Amino acid sequence: MLRKLTISALAAAALLAGGLTAAPALANEGNVEDVAFSFEGPFGTFDRNQLQRGLQIYTEVCSACHGLKYVPLRALGEEGGPALPEDQVRAYAAALTVVDKETGEERAAIPADHFPANTSAGAPDLSLMAKARKGFSGPYGLGITQLFKGIGGPEYIVAVLNGYSGEEKESAGSTFYENHAFPGGWIRMPPPLTDGQVTFADGAPNDVKHMSEDVAAFLTWAAEPKLTARHDVGFRAVIFLGLLTVLLYLTNKRLWSGIKGRKSV
Ligand code: HEC
Repeated sequence: MLRKLTISALAAAALLAGGLTAAPALANEGNVEDVAFSFEGPFGTFDRNQLQRGLQIYTEVCSACHGLKYVPLRALGEEGGPALPEDQVRAYAAALTVVDKETGEERAAIPADHFPANTSAGAPDLSLMAKARKGFSGPYGLGITQLFKGIGGPEYIVAVLNGYSGEEKESAGSTFYENHAFPGGWIRMPPPLTDGQVTFADGAPNDVKHMSEDVAAFLTWAAEPKLTARHDVGFRAVIFLGLLTVLLYLTNKRLWSGIKGRKSV
């Protein structure tokens, strides 16, 4: 029995190792590299300062073309997120214009509203982008790289923002920019970030590389604001299941102890 178990455990380990080494060969990663984000792993949490910088980059740069229509403004004040003080959330909202659902008229936003949509440049809404691109690579979009190497939506966003070669071309009346991370190699988005474009109150580095990580972290939070809470629940569930296993094991032993202890004739 023990031998059988050992053999199957070895086989499983070999399969797993095989999968791990085979993954990079299978995956179609483009030029996407892993980034060690604070929110990754079972204990990961968002870095509040990074989210605040990401919000600033989104506001000053990306929002010119992209909306965030599924994200409620009040979420900016929630713990685990950018956690802006209440008056700042109100001030942030007041600077935005939304169309009132009831009157159909434009007015200043309040925290109960969502970020505005923006379709002016034909750019996709970014609310769920980090999730939508989670399994972007690997065969048939199975997310193999996400599983084995921790590369997912945020890494992809960083790669797109850093992936420009500087080449452009005109095609069917639009300008396309060569980008090594974007599937197909040509994207309609002009390179949005340049070094030093946004100035942060905390003096954090503002080169393209750092800013792209900050805004990718912010977009990950936007797509999954409850990630920290989910990690918490997962961790508690694991502890609970562990305790349950021990209890069941002890109960089982006790129940059978009378019978197992008997000498068979
Ligand atoms: C000048 C307008 C403009 C600005 C500013 C802009 N974008 Fe875009 N973005 C676009 C357009 C247009 C597309 C669609 C590209 C396509 O499908 O070829 C796009 C697409 C994207 C995509 C989707 C790529 C995909 O896989 O489909 C991401 C992610 C993105 N932008 C992020 C950002 C971020 C982050 C910023 C701010 C740092 C930003 N964009 C600023 C116009 C813009």
